[in-house]
Amino acid sequence: LRFIWSDSFQTGHNLIDKQHKELFNRANIFFETTENIPDEEQYIETLNFLVSYVKEHFKTEEDLMKECNYPLLAGHKKEHEELVKKLVTTYKELIKGGFNESIIESTNALVQEWYVSHINMHDKKMAEFIKNN
Ligand code: FEO
Repeated sequence: LRFIWSDSFQTGHNLIDKQHKELFNRANIFFETTENIPDEEQYIETLNFLVSYVKEHFKTEEDLMKECNYPLLAGHKKEHEELVKKLVTTYKELIKGGFNESIIESTNALVQEWYVSHINMHDKKMAEFIKNN
């Protein structure tokens, strides 16, 4: 399983696009780890590596939205909070119960949900507003 970047994910905002690419990269590192010989420490480390960057990325977007008084900031921020909550739940499951197939599935579903739907529905709209304000 790999996430491949394509131009259809571009928001047109350089920093945001750069961070989205890095998120793809970190999600792929996590999935790569899951394909290797099970090593829970590595799973935890690579999932943490992904989650910490997701948080950093969301903070960047929220700061940009605040700077230009983006009217849809509250809804967009709520989406971010939901996604972080789900990722943290997955992370806790991994620490508590150890690695299992459902962890890959839920992480995969989350990343797909975020990339496909969040970028298309929220990030592109936000980037357009930032460009014009
Ligand atoms: Fe790129 Fe709103 O997350």
